[in-house]
Amino acid sequence: MLPKSKVLIIAGSDSSGGAGIQADIKTVTSLGSYAMSAITAVTSQNTLGVKSIVPISPIEVYNQIYFTSEDIKPDAIKIGMLHSQKVIDAVFKGIKKIKTKKIVLDPVMVAKGGAKLINNSAIMDIKNKLLNKVFLLTPNIPEAELLTNSKINTIKDMIKAGKDLVNFGAKNILIKGGHLKSKNLFDILINKSQIRIFKNRKYNTKNTHGTGCTLSSAIATNLSCGKNLINSCELGIKYVNEAIKSNLNYGKGRGPINHLNSIILEKKFK
Ligand SMILES: Nc1ncnc2c1ncn2[C@@H]1O[C@H](COP(=O)(O)OP(=O)(O)OP(=O)(O)O)[C@@H](O)[C@H]1O
Ligand SMILES: [Mg+2]
Repeated sequence: MLPKSKVLIIAGSDSSGGAGIQADIKTVTSLGSYAMSAITAVTSQNTLGVKSIVPISPIEVYNQIYFTSEDIKPDAIKIGMLHSQKVIDAVFKGIKKIKTKKIVLDPVMVAKGGAKLINNSAIMDIKNKLLNKVFLLTPNIPEAELLTNSKINTIKDMIKAGKDLVNFGAKNILIKGGHLKSKNLFDILINKSQIRIFKNRKYNTKNTHGTGCTLSSAIATNLSCGKNLINSCELGIKYVNEAIKSNLNYGKGRGPINHLNSIILEKKFK
């Protein structure tokens, strides 16, 4: 097949391959599109934890975004971890120049284990500078709590937080329900005119490393192909759900999901 569209990913590198730019490239590719990248940080990590993080300088982040995109224009952009205010500024400058409208921002602030990954001033910058510039924001529950200064324990709380963020200027919010204590999984899409709840099966597994990165990249890919917002979210969630279901069980800690679940290898390559 030929790529259906082109997607630029702005995110950090995860050496273990389960999250970050590696998960993003696998997702975009497995869903049939062409992936480009701007790396914001290089991490050394495995399924048990992060050993080190080396930030890429803001000017290099900007250069990757601008020089790549002025040559091959992306149909959509996925933005992942932005660890400092200077990187946020560089990304803001970069996306302003590209003029691609379909931007999905995964405001990575809190890791699966609960660790806060960025400082308070960077959180404020994401809220004040980027939130109203993107098409879709995909916070998990702890991130939605930080952005709204509220506690989220129920579906009602998720909807309230989403409405608050819409009032704050966000166009579309998908609050992910992976952190909610519930029997099923609920991801909720909220904008000015609608609330849509996506209910799915919850798997009892520790192997969910990279679900958030994968979901935002899948949605960005679907949008880049011209699918509408609801369809893009629904298909993206389905892709992540199936990838978790495979339960690869790689590594001794929180293992990766199966990005290849959408692919059938042609006979001649077997
Ligand atoms: N155990 C599970 N079973 C099924 N789906 C899940 C499970 N955990 C998470 N998901 C799905 O994965 C997607 C990502 O949600 P989650 O809340 O885990 O994001 P996140 O915390 O940002 O992830 P990450 O830790 O990768 O940053 C959502 O669509 C969510 O419904
Ligand atoms: Mg996340």
